[in-house]
Amino acid sequence: MNIVLLGFMGAGKSTVASVLAEKLHISSVELDEEILALSERPTISAIFSLDGEDAFRRLETQVCQTWGLVSPVIVSTGGGVVERSENLDALRQRDALFVFLHTSFATLQERLEGDSTRPLFQNVEAARALFDKRLPRYMNAADCIVDTDGKTPEAVASIVLDEVHRLTGNRHKTLRPSAMVQACTCPSVPSASTEVCLIWGDPVSHSLSPRMHNEAYREIEVAEQFVFVAAQVQAQELEQAWVGARAMKFRGITCTIPHKQAIIPLLDELDPLAKKVGAVNTVVRLSDGRYKGYNTDVEGVVLPLKERIDLAGKRVAIVGAGGAARAAVFGVQDAGAEVLVLNRTLEKAQALAEEVGGSAYSLQDADVVEGCDVIVQTTSVGMTPHIEDSPLPSSVLRPSQLVMDAIYTPWETRLLQDARKAGATVIPGAEMFVYQGVAQFELYTGCSAPVSTMKRIVSEALEGTWHVEKERAS
Ligand code: ATR
Repeated sequence: MNIVLLGFMGAGKSTVASVLAEKLHISSVELDEEILALSERPTISAIFSLDGEDAFRRLETQVCQTWGLVSPVIVSTGGGVVERSENLDALRQRDALFVFLHTSFATLQERLEGDSTRPLFQNVEAARALFDKRLPRYMNAADCIVDTDGKTPEAVASIVLDEVHRLTGNRHKTLRPSAMVQACTCPSVPSASTEVCLIWGDPVSHSLSPRMHNEAYREIEVAEQFVFVAAQVQAQELEQAWVGARAMKFRGITCTIPHKQAIIPLLDELDPLAKKVGAVNTVVRLSDGRYKGYNTDVEGVVLPLKERIDLAGKRVAIVGAGGAARAAVFGVQDAGAEVLVLNRTLEKAQALAEEVGGSAYSLQDADVVEGCDVIVQTTSVGMTPHIEDSPLPSSVLRPSQLVMDAIYTPWETRLLQDARKAGATVIPGAEMFVYQGVAQFELYTGCSAPVSTMKRIVSEALEGTWHVEKERAS
């Protein structure tokens, strides 16, 4: 496995890479040096000034896709490597853990002002805009984030190592090349002490959750401790299944249709947000053996939005008034947003909006969406096979908006296609699915979830692609 360091120019990637390489007795590679080796220019600045940024980016992609070093290696990337998703995909293909070295803009400014070798930092305002644009991309790509402000490269390297140990489950081992290679090649199998997590539903055979969770267990090397299986449990079998689950001390139970409400009276404790939503999709056995219910569909909506925007004070339109809409409404309200509920049946929108002090509209009054910062679509309109349908006319979509759809088949609904054409930032429903699973993974295992692995599994299964986003106007 490789450790790939991401971060803005001046974050200390090269120095930290050298310290890490020394500590681990492995090599480090500087992608900028590999780029220079391909170019006729003497410096990166010369490539930028003489050939232009596009030429540099092409070389960068070529290096990411073709360099042939043997794992494990520490890779120090250029700050702009996140500009192209194919760079990250290529680096990821060589089995990599992405570490984002996060440095505040003020610290970067102190470090870089006056450094003429940094072509993109010659104008502070432009650098600030670039920083704001790239920050969510680093966050999105990273398996872990390490703050570097006020820390020496040695201190940063130690934290990176702790994070790598934590994520790979090698807490008590020294991370050596052999250990890292072994980590990628030895499959773990369940044992007598393996904790069992399940998904209960009817139907359930189509569920992506077992594959996503099991691959994630493997990725952070906890597949000996946890296994995730699906069980078809019909509505009338829930109570019987519950008695069995308690007796067998299952670690976690993911509830899907038709159990999200029916499970609630059986639980020992209910998370306050799940109580407000009135639905539970995640049940966890606590250390004292009692079972507590959560609703991670809320995180499924809120985490992807928060990665891109601060929801406080924003106007968020929730389309629909069913179960998925409830998770969205209470999640965004909890994050400080103003809520507008739009629904085919106005009375249902009114009832839901009233619970959070929001406003309600019929879908016929979709014009109100024009003034919203965020749209979260939760109805079944546009789902395969009705892929030409959209609950909103394209005329209400704006470039500054963030538009998310709960539907993940098709990967990009008609609404999202219209939003993309309008210049808006779109979030496919698959991301909502991944993040409800991320929150669930962390509740079941107590470990940070390997988000990019989970995203990869879902995109492979649904044959979709995660797009690198353009900069949003606001
Ligand atoms: P879920 O739990 O997945 O949210 P649900 O509770 O069945 O599903 O809710 C379905 C939502 O999709 C409702 O908001 C429903 O609108 P109504 O309240 O008017 O029934 C909405 N919906 C379903 N089919 C629709 C359609 N063809 N046009 C517009 N809205 C539709």
